[in-house]
Amino acid sequence: MISGRSVPEPVTAVIDTAGGWLPQRLAEVEQGLVEAVDQGGVLAEAATATLSAGGKRMRPMLVLLCAGPEAGPAAVRSGIAVELVHMASLVHDDVLDRAPLRRGHPTVYASAGRELATSLGDQLFSTAFRVLVDGGDSRAVTEISATAVDLARGELLQRQGAFDLGVTEATYLERCGLKTGRLFEAACLLGRTSTHPGDSGAIGLFGHRIGLAFQMLDDVLDMSGPPERTGKARGTDLLDGTVTLPLIIAARSDESLAGLDLRGLDEDSAAGVCDRIEATGALTEVRDRATGLIAEAKAGLVSAGLDLEQRQLLELIADGVVLRYS
Ligand code: FPP
Ligand code: MG
Repeated sequence: MISGRSVPEPVTAVIDTAGGWLPQRLAEVEQGLVEAVDQGGVLAEAATATLSAGGKRMRPMLVLLCAGPEAGPAAVRSGIAVELVHMASLVHDDVLDRAPLRRGHPTVYASAGRELATSLGDQLFSTAFRVLVDGGDSRAVTEISATAVDLARGELLQRQGAFDLGVTEATYLERCGLKTGRLFEAACLLGRTSTHPGDSGAIGLFGHRIGLAFQMLDDVLDMSGPPERTGKARGTDLLDGTVTLPLIIAARSDESLAGLDLRGLDEDSAAGVCDRIEATGALTEVRDRATGLIAEAKAGLVSAGLDLEQRQLLELIADGVVLRYS
């Protein structure tokens, strides 16, 4: 357990395999997160609820694993900062989506309203930079700043393509690379450079690939459910007008899907569209492609200059991305 949260399978496997340094540093990240969100005022309750609402701490884990056993305060601060940016982006995303649920719990948007949720996202986002500045780490500030710009670009690309069945696979991949792959990439880069300054090579690509696979599998899960597992209704992306890879692929073989009116869907008909998409084999195809990306990510680690144990731990976390969705 990390600070009383239940820890999912892949994370447990990595913690069990790594030496004592990993749980120690993860606990420091968790403590840092608690301190970072605890700023009093009207946002305190929502901030604490958001922090304790779950989350796999996958990004801080990547920071620490890429830093390796000599991970120190710089890696811990980067772990805190990437998780704060991640949390901020989800709180803002839920405002934009008008989402009722996240991880099975009411979103801040649903329970406290648009204004409070927007402010909380802003607070979490700003605090990430304070944590990095407190460590005097201008390199990390620059990386996280560039990453946040990319997240915003990815989100905008998604909004611009909303309800548009003409969204291409290339645009989908660009969008997922920006909104999800980029933060995984930053986590890996910041971890590695905290212990190996100047080494910004292959490890970033590893992060980008597993982030992209993560998002592709998340988009499959949105359609396959079940809701008890995902904490949201099947077809939520369709209802939001978000055109994802399963639909793009399915529409190639099912003409009725190519002409779908996403604005006319309700919860029941969205679930029916998910079934039709699944019947084309598109969910299996996207799962396979994500699995292929994970394999490429792992293969790329061979030339990343890591020691064997570190590489094996990163392979384990990469496998965890797929296992979680199998
Ligand atoms: C969740 O994915 C959302 C993201 C990965 C990115 C959200 C980014 C922003 C709101 C813009 C930038 C914000 C900051 C603070 C820099 P999803 O919408 O695919 O999945 P979900 O809604 O089902 O979780
Ligand atoms: Mg969303």
